[in-house]
Amino acid sequence: MRTICFANKKGGVGKTTISTHAAYLAAVRGNPPARVLFIDIEGQGDATGFFGVPRHGIPSICDILSDGVPARDIIRKTKYDNIDIIPSNDELDDYVIGLTKDQDIVQQDVLLNALKGLEDEYDLCIIDCPPAYNFLVLSAFRVADSAVVVSIPHIYSEQGVEKFNERVRLAQSLNPAFHIDGVLLNSYRSCSSSHHSIERIEQDTGLPVFAEKIRYTAYHLEAAAESGRSVFEQSPSCGFCRDMENWFFPYINGEAEMV
Ligand SMILES: Nc1ncnc2c1ncn2[C@@H]1O[C@H](COP(=O)(O)OP(=O)(O)OP(=O)(O)O)[C@@H](O)[C@H]1O
Ligand SMILES: [Mg+2]
Repeated sequence: MRTICFANKKGGVGKTTISTHAAYLAAVRGNPPARVLFIDIEGQGDATGFFGVPRHGIPSICDILSDGVPARDIIRKTKYDNIDIIPSNDELDDYVIGLTKDQDIVQQDVLLNALKGLEDEYDLCIIDCPPAYNFLVLSAFRVADSAVVVSIPHIYSEQGVEKFNERVRLAQSLNPAFHIDGVLLNSYRSCSSSHHSIERIEQDTGLPVFAEKIRYTAYHLEAAAESGRSVFEQSPSCGFCRDMENWFFPYINGEAEMV
């Protein structure tokens, strides 16, 4: 099982949109289709809703983190055959707020332990991180092989990057193989300020940037969300879908071009 998390401290950059549609591509369009485990560690439960799983009244990631329940007892089927999920809901936010500093360091291994024994049951595990650098994100970095940083032009912040690099180093002290695959630019429009933001990201972070970008496609994303479907089912030939396919398949095969 290869584990990839989608992260950025900035909210609303498209982590959930990209991670859920990456899971869809791997499981439905993959050749061969991948068996995907999706882990939602965001209190909003947006990904949980996307996959047609109820946000309340069922066990969730919170039961794993707070009580050490094995992941196997929490995993649910989604509306897509090859995608299972560890769902999330707003109990997670309450749980995080209630933790003390020391507790959250100890907690970083809980997800790792809960996932033991599942390695052969899935080909790919995708984790949708919250917009934070808290222990949830560190727990994800602890279990992941790598992370994709989803970013959008214009809102880039140097301060966030320093903190991010510190988190990556901390994760690597426990999980030395963990690394950042690259920055994936989302909501991209081809204008000169977007070009400048690519240069700035490279300069300030030293992180590689994927050459393939995901273009701004609000209309089709909104229509898909309203119909409760993925964009691939709603508008398969829209720019978002073409960009996602052009990025995801080379990326997952280790052939992504970098800027
Ligand atoms: N390529 C895109 N073009 C236009 N709109 C987009 C694009 N990607 C995402 N969005 C929209 O941006 C909003 C935020 O996206 P999303 O929820 O995926 O971000 P997020 O990083 O997961 O947010 P949070 O940090 O709150 O978890 C959503 O309304 C989504 O439809
Ligand atoms: Mg999200």
